[in-house]
Amino acid sequence: MLYIGVDLGTSAVKLLLMDGEGKIQKIVSKEYPIYFPHPGWSEQKPEDWFEQTMAGIKELIAEADKSKIAGISFGGQMHGLVILDKEDQVIRPALLWNDGRTFEECDYLNNVIGKDKLSEYTANISFTGFTAPKILWVKNKEPENFARIAKIMLPKDYIAYKLTGVHCTDVSDASGMLLLDVKNRCWSKEMCEICGISMDMLPKLFESYECVGTVKEEIAKELGIPATVKVAAGAGDNAAAAVGTGTVGEGMCNISLGTSGTIFISSKKFGVDKFNALHAFAHADGNYHLMGCMLSAASCNKWWMEDIIGTDEYAKEQEPITRLGENHVYFLPYLMGERSPHNNPNARGTFIGMTMDTSRADMTQAVLEGVAFALRDSLEVAKSLGIKLERTKICGGGAKSPLWKKMIANILNLKVDVIESEEGPALGGAMLAAVACGEYESVEAAAAKIVKIIDTVEPEPELVAKYEERYQQFKEIYPACKPLFEIIK
Ligand code: XUL
Repeated sequence: MLYIGVDLGTSAVKLLLMDGEGKIQKIVSKEYPIYFPHPGWSEQKPEDWFEQTMAGIKELIAEADKSKIAGISFGGQMHGLVILDKEDQVIRPALLWNDGRTFEECDYLNNVIGKDKLSEYTANISFTGFTAPKILWVKNKEPENFARIAKIMLPKDYIAYKLTGVHCTDVSDASGMLLLDVKNRCWSKEMCEICGISMDMLPKLFESYECVGTVKEEIAKELGIPATVKVAAGAGDNAAAAVGTGTVGEGMCNISLGTSGTIFISSKKFGVDKFNALHAFAHADGNYHLMGCMLSAASCNKWWMEDIIGTDEYAKEQEPITRLGENHVYFLPYLMGERSPHNNPNARGTFIGMTMDTSRADMTQAVLEGVAFALRDSLEVAKSLGIKLERTKICGGGAKSPLWKKMIANILNLKVDVIESEEGPALGGAMLAAVACGEYESVEAAAAKIVKIIDTVEPEPELVAKYEERYQQFKEIYPACKPLFEIIK
């Protein structure tokens, strides 16, 4: 049988067709616009997501035996607020995961309601990108839109709803709403009250690998697929990527270098760090995970390459970078503010340390290293919890660069296992569909069969030592700049 994985990303939707053995048959990508109506705001139109997903599925299955298509599932950009009225029409563009407008609402949640209460109800505190503060923002700033809300959902859930007619979500993605009692995998009554919403506005909760329904008759007709095709709930893109890289079960790690950058640690036990610096979320395999998320990762490199120095020759630009661990230039990668571990929407991108002999290559190197150093910041939090990691998987667009993988291995001092396919969330989505259709008996069984490690980048002791010194310097830059970030607005 055949399974479709949909990775509803920030710059594009990526669609992947996988057979029952886990072999990838085809990959298609369709872009849509992102809007930044004010500095620090970011929005997309759910209608664009659906239109491009449908166009993408058509292209993906054009030459396939459509009668063999059995299931569809998702990895979706997390935290985005999609609101529908009672006719199921989208009320306003979605506020995305990297939108920083809700600092007042976050301040209210974290400091008036209080972090202790939030952590007790949801296992997490508020970050500007999370969904609950966005609901409060709509309530405070757009009361006429708030009054029209009949349903609240996350980005990928809008696609599942359009395909099946079922208002659904899954526990991994729902964890990032600050409305889920993560430990018990159910909605929090208290958080609904705090946000002024009723529980029936929230979608029905599923495990990621559960079937929410079959495609609607008219969708089956439009796509030319059987009306028996099952739609599985899917997962937030990081949990889906973890499935796609085999980061399931106990104590595994995955780093994703996409628009955002994440470090994801799977666990069979529920756990929260004392300061909630890492997110404590449900995992798509039925267990839990901890995650640090930086808001700009591969997007920093894209910005530097395409918008600033004006080239799209990424590999060529990285060729002259040979002196690792010796760069005097540092870059703080906070182009959209920062989530983990600083939780500061006012943080900004910063270059420091240039001299007259600084070259273009040094600056490019600083951008790549800055992202790796910032991931190390989250790794340090995990280490402080007693978590011991020796190795990590890696996925996302940034994982295509051998140089960046080498920097990650040496700056984080982790063995980096390279997977046959870097298509983390889309592959994870297809795997979740395969589990929902009974092709595999569990997510762990699917991962054991499908995910193959093809190479490992080993940290080199000399380079680890050089980078350790550099990291100690990097660590000083954010606290020194922090007061300035409050002024430079
Ligand atoms: C995770 C997060 C991002 C988005 C990117 O908490 O906000 O990784 O999911 O799509």
